[in-house]
Formats: sequence, C-alpha cells, structure tokens
Amino acid sequence: MSHGYFQHEGITFPGLLYSPRGIEAAREFPVYDDDVFNVTYQKSGTVWMLEILSLIHSNGDPQWVQSVPNWDRGPWLETLLGLRRARGCPRPRLLSSHLPVQLFPKAFFGSKAKVIYTVRNPKDVLVSLYHFARIFRPYKDPGTLEQFMERFLQGDVPFGSWFDHVRGWMELRGQENFFCISYEELQQDLRGSVRRLCQFLDRPLGGAAVDAIVANASFAAMSSNRMSNFSLSPRFILDMRRGTFLRKGISGDWKNHLTPEQSARFDHVYRERMGGVGLTFPWDPP
Ligand code: A3P
Repeated sequence: MSHGYFQHEGITFPGLLYSPRGIEAAREFPVYDDDVFNVTYQKSGTVWMLEILSLIHSNGDPQWVQSVPNWDRGPWLETLLGLRRARGCPRPRLLSSHLPVQLFPKAFFGSKAKVIYTVRNPKDVLVSLYHFARIFRPYKDPGTLEQFMERFLQGDVPFGSWFDHVRGWMELRGQENFFCISYEELQQDLRGSVRRLCQFLDRPLGGAAVDAIVANASFAAMSSNRMSNFSLSPRFILDMRRGTFLRKGISGDWKNHLTPEQSARFDHVYRERMGGVGLTFPWDPP
C-alpha cells in the first residue's frame, strides 16, 4: 500500500503522514532557546540518538524511555501528528527531524536552540533504508537494491539527496549551538559520546547516570523496549511481519549487500558529490 509521493521545494515526501501544509507549518514552528533538535538524514541513527537524549534529559533514569513512546518524547516535526505533539511538549523540548536545512524551522536560525546532527556511512544508510522501505508503508516498494541504489544516489528518495542533506547541515559547523556526531562514533565509544553530548547540552552527569544511559541505549535494550522498538506502531504504518525497525544495528553491513561493482559506482558518485568540500568522516578511506 503506497499513497504516492509529493514534491515540496524540490524534495520528495510520502503522501501518508506528510503534507505540504505540514512541511510549511514545521518551517514556521516557533522555537525556544532551550529546544534540543535531534536531526538526521533518515536511517542514520535517529531513534538511537533520541534514546540517548531522552536518557540525558531524565538524568539516566530509564523510567521515561520505558513508559513513553519515542515519538512522544521527541516528536518528528515534519509529520502533522508530530507537529501537534511537539506543540504540546513541556519545555525543555526534545524534537526530531529529517528535514534538509533549507526546510528547517526558520526561527531556529535566530535562536540559541541546539541541533545535534547524526551522520552515518551513506552505504549503510542505503542498505538500512532499502530494508526500511519494505516495511514502512508510506514508502514505495524499493524494487531491487541495484535500482534503489541509483535512486538513492540521484536523491530520488524521500527527504531527498543524502549528499545535499549532509552538505547543507554541515554548513553550520563551527556554530556553538550545532553538534555533529557520527553513528560510527556512537558505535565505537558510546560512553565517550554520551559525555561529549552532556557537555554540549550543559548537562553534567555522574558516572552512574552515564552507565545507565549506555546500558539503556544499547541495541539489545532498545530492541526489547516496546517504547523504542516501534512494536506499538499500527500495521498500516509499519509492517513488522516483513522485518524490524531495529534491524542489525551494526556498521559496515553494506559489505554484505553491495557487489564490488556497486560499491565502486557508489564511491565514484560519493567522490563527485563530496570531494573538495572539506568534510572528513570515519568512513573515509585512509
Ligand atoms: P540498521 O537498519 O542498519 O540496523 P533511524 O533511527 O535513523 O531510522 O536509523 C535506524 C538505524 O539505526 C537502523 O540501522 C537501526 O538498527 C539502528 N539503530 C537504532 N538503535 C540502535 C542502537 N541502539 N545501536 C545501534 N544501532 C541502532
């Protein structure tokens, strides 16, 4: 079941859950200085970061993440439902978004609100998105991985081009209310990443609280937490008979899916789109 897609300002969105009016309303969303935005290109670790930020928010106490669904803790601004939830959130608010920077709430740019932008190896994003498109009903069937990879490389997928999204958001590097972290860094050193996030958020936490965050934001803990694993999603949104939202939770799964030729084609486009822009990432070749 697909409700088709619409284009808004050159970006593709699914017609189920999203609308041009909703995207525009998100753009006009009033922002407070104490808002914390969890921003990603989809499949880059959004719900993982949301779990970490939720746990920081509650000083490591897992009660909140174990009793409130993640979409209520940090609503996705660009969906109509998410926007309504966001308006009702008590401050300080935690808000999530996949919007490209040019469609982000305008009021953010004159505020002291904070953005945490999580990036992930785009080959792993591709593979994760390919599997996700098969269970997320608002998305069209992805076809073969080969076909889907071409659309991904051209930016012909919901939320547009990974390359444009990352390049756009990374323009904010150096601003004191912008913090960029990678999925790979979270994987390699979750504890150190949590400490850096606490520092950025001015939320100093003790060792026991950090321990609790690391334990409760693990892939295993989130997979068995009904408030975080999307098992509460209605089937017309997420068909978990075909796969789980928390699928593998590893770095480098692309190696199990892309042929050497596909990987080389990806690298070629990556170099064309990201070469010479002065960004370095954990997945860059040595
Ligand atoms: P995979 O499909 O590769 O498993 P998003 O939240 O942006 O949609 O990203 C989803 C991806 O993040 C999925 O990747 C999911 O398994 C992974 N993920 C979510 N929570 C995680 C965790 N605690 N540890 C590692 N990966 C996690």
